[in-house]
Amino acid sequence: MRLLVVADLHYGLPKYDWLASVARNYDLLVIAGDHLDLSSAVDFRAQSVVVGKYLDRLKQQVPVLTCSGNHDLDSRNAEGEKVASWVRALSSEGISADGDSFVLDDTLFTICPWWDGPVVRADLVDQIRIDAGKRDGRRWIWVHHAPPNESPTSWNGSRSFGDAEVREWIEEFSPDIVLSGHVHQSPFVKDGSWVDRIGTTWVFNAGHQYGALPAHVIIDTDRQSALWFSAAGAQEVRLDQPLRRPIPELVALPSWLTSADPAPDRTPG
Ligand SMILES: [Fe+2]
Repeated sequence: MRLLVVADLHYGLPKYDWLASVARNYDLLVIAGDHLDLSSAVDFRAQSVVVGKYLDRLKQQVPVLTCSGNHDLDSRNAEGEKVASWVRALSSEGISADGDSFVLDDTLFTICPWWDGPVVRADLVDQIRIDAGKRDGRRWIWVHHAPPNESPTSWNGSRSFGDAEVREWIEEFSPDIVLSGHVHQSPFVKDGSWVDRIGTTWVFNAGHQYGALPAHVIIDTDRQSALWFSAAGAQEVRLDQPLRRPIPELVALPSWLTSADPAPDRTPG
């Protein structure tokens, strides 16, 4: 299975155009939160409508999984906690989103909402516990906007902006992979990184860069490889080997990425 992973697109519409141009080369597209940009001059409700149309186009090409980020919160639940109701509503549009679990081949995905208070957090813990019971030997991947704290994937150059509770959940449940974003600078600053390992769990944060090409991670589970591409360079880690730093720069694209080996056409008939 080949996954394309991005996050923090922040209403960067050329980045969505790029995704639309490459999505069919993958088995799955993961957008790990922060679709919208709260600082944009465009009203966030209009942003969510436009992004929804892009997601609708993307899902015609490839299964799409997405969680909310802190920029995506558009309303409050009954307890007054901020939630991204438009992201949760994507579930009924054929996109796996906040609160969903999704199985593809040998992999179980848990899509985690951004939590702003104890009620959504408690629901998320319940969701993780229920999915732990569904694991049944499968690879388990979480999609969660905030990376764990005290990790190079949450280091912004001066402090960690990660989530302490995510770290505790990783230590308790040992998912195989956590796909995150949130801390834009992590891959680009000293002592930061796009990848970390906590116990047996791999954690990824592709980072945010300006321009039409989003920083992105490609994971090929069959080849046990994860690749990071950005304006600052490209790197590869092997998922079947220990994480060693410094991570070497990728000097040439692997043949499996460049060969004419597209994913099966998943376009509905
Ligand atoms: Fe962000």
